[in-house]
Amino acid sequence: MQTVGVIGAGQMGSGISQVVAQAGMKVLLSDVDIALAEKAKDGIGKAFAKLVSREKLTPDEADAAFARIVPVADYAPMADAQLIIEAATEREEVKRRIFESAGKVLAATAILASNTSSIPITRMATSSPDPARFIGLHFFNPVPVMGLIEVIPGLATAKDTVSRTRAFADALGKQIVQTEDEPGFVVNRILLPMINEAVFVLGQGTANIADIDKGCRIGLNHPMGPLELADFVGLDTCLDIVKVLYNTTGDSKYRPAPLLMKYVEAGWLGRKSGRGFYDYSGDVPVPTR
Ligand SMILES: NC(=O)c1ccc[n+]([C@@H]2O[C@H](COP(=O)([O-])OP(=O)(O)OC[C@H]3O[C@@H](n4cnc5c(N)ncnc54)[C@H](O)[C@@H]3O)[C@@H](O)[C@H]2O)c1
Repeated sequence: MQTVGVIGAGQMGSGISQVVAQAGMKVLLSDVDIALAEKAKDGIGKAFAKLVSREKLTPDEADAAFARIVPVADYAPMADAQLIIEAATEREEVKRRIFESAGKVLAATAILASNTSSIPITRMATSSPDPARFIGLHFFNPVPVMGLIEVIPGLATAKDTVSRTRAFADALGKQIVQTEDEPGFVVNRILLPMINEAVFVLGQGTANIADIDKGCRIGLNHPMGPLELADFVGLDTCLDIVKVLYNTTGDSKYRPAPLLMKYVEAGWLGRKSGRGFYDYSGDVPVPTR
């Protein structure tokens, strides 16, 4: 791949753009407004500056990678991309509209990929111009740090699409787990019920936030507790994923914890909004319950 389009310039789109640019490819980055893509590019610039100060990148490498990221106002320039990665909000209707619009400029052999955390690939592929060139490409957060990518072919995805997508993930230096197109794939199918259960435990008053996280950090040897991880992922994204698990399986074991819904309704979305289960306004995160 030489040119990659990235649609959605939030936490994930920024991280994806950073690693793709660092791997030597040009990135065309878009969001609902070009100002958001430009803001994301500024954030990536700060990440590059940190890597330079830690001597992980030379100033020349950082400048070159930064210059390879081009914010764009619409999808027209993505006609030059061999791969377009959608990393917008975890809502099926939002993603479908993007696939329809981006599909109009998608080059004849280019691949359209979704970074969805949970929405079925086979189903979303019907909004793309060619389901044989549609695939799930699930990065982990923060993308520059996390070494895994899940590759999820849908029912109609061609073998050639799978092998080209795997080659792209390899070029980023990531490990690959290829999964069947089942709700939540592998990692989120296991992780999200744990996070949701931690919120039930909190809501039922079994323990406070600090102790739930401490219990899992020390008792399970997890690097982060489930509630701090939920704040990191974004509580709106967690809720959207749990809803997909619940709605696509119809299994009541995936019903969203009422307290998770309440936090999202309050706009307490975790780190990205400054408050979730922890308050991030000071130097260190403070548990809110
Ligand atoms: N947060 C995580 O840990 C994580 C991990 C893996 C995958 N994902 C998936 O990545 C996707 C993005 O998640 P995120 O954490 O970056 O969310 P985010 O809220 O940080 O960013 C979402 C971005 O999408 C943009 N957007 C919304 N509608 C759009 C549209 N029509 N066109 C273009 N851009 C649009 C928003 O303006 C925002 O900048 C979701 O599908 C999510 O499930 C998230």
